[in-house]
Amino acid sequence: MTEQDFIPKSYLKSIENGSVTWSSPSNIALVKYWGKKEHQLPQNPSISFTLDNCKTVTTLSFSKKEASNNFSFEVFLDGEKKEDFKPKIETFFKRIEVYIPFLKDYHFVIETSNTFPHSSGIASSASGMSALSMCLMSIEMMLNPKLSNTFINQKASFLARLGSGSACRSVEGDLIVWGLHEAIEGSSDLFGTKYPYEVHDNFKNYQDTILLVDKGEKQVSSTVGHNLMHNHPFASQRFAQANDNLAKLIQIFKSGDVYAFIEIIESEALTLHAMMMTSLPYFILMKPNTLEIINKIWEFRQDTGLPISFTLDAGANVHVLYPEKDAKLILEFIKNELVAYCQNGHYICDKIGFGAKKIDN
Ligand code: PMV
Repeated sequence: MTEQDFIPKSYLKSIENGSVTWSSPSNIALVKYWGKKEHQLPQNPSISFTLDNCKTVTTLSFSKKEASNNFSFEVFLDGEKKEDFKPKIETFFKRIEVYIPFLKDYHFVIETSNTFPHSSGIASSASGMSALSMCLMSIEMMLNPKLSNTFINQKASFLARLGSGSACRSVEGDLIVWGLHEAIEGSSDLFGTKYPYEVHDNFKNYQDTILLVDKGEKQVSSTVGHNLMHNHPFASQRFAQANDNLAKLIQIFKSGDVYAFIEIIESEALTLHAMMMTSLPYFILMKPNTLEIINKIWEFRQDTGLPISFTLDAGANVHVLYPEKDAKLILEFIKNELVAYCQNGHYICDKIGFGAKKIDN
């Protein structure tokens, strides 16, 4: 596939107006994407668990308008008009216009809500951009009913990537690869693909309890962070390491070795933050309680031998990852020992999920 394959040649039908609704989840990277080239193409391949409970629900209503050279849309979050969301969507529309040529033919109303609190420090860009991309693909499907499901998912992921890189890993589940890796068949820089090889039962229904350490806005956006990987002193080693870690995970997923898994994903989380700390300008997104939690997790793992682990995204919150079969003991530990480090005691119980779903209006 190339970018050209996503440019429609013509549409078979025309449609005046309508409305579509999709829900799409967030995802958590195991091997991290940090550093990008032009057009939101990743510097290294990444892999993530798609989440289940943390999701965005978006309704896209559309009505034919007079032909003009402008995009016409309104955005609502939880029923409230959001002027400040418009520039990001305008940028997204500009980037995808060549692939979605009907964008200037309609007036759109985008109504969106998240299942997680807006100010939770959990980025809604992955779930939001993938939900909106699925809505656009539903409209494309109405205009061109012959499209296959594979094509729809690939193109939705491709569009979502142009909105926010990691969003391309939210269209499907449960394990998604994004970025070309020589050992992973079908992998592509253009869109996310389902991890194609054997996965041991130990990794099925993996649990993710998200500890909300800091619910504020990030001081440094991920766009700025990605850009700081240009001229970063450790960039090339980091990109090579991500490739190696992904290759190692293939055997680990097959064998079910959760301890080898832990070593890779915790190293990935700390390397991501090490890249932030060693860029120029340097910055730190972890908070004291992030480190308290990490140390408690290590202590508990040492004492009990249970396969509890953590990963981080570009923020202070901690994703505690563990197999379903150990959930009872680990959740008890989380409630007794870790929740005290969360802002207002807030945490979210989530697990691996299977991607975007259409909701009947
Ligand atoms: O999709 P972006 O541009 O917000 O970048 C996400 C980067 C990380 O969450 C830190 C890592 C990842 O692979 O999701």
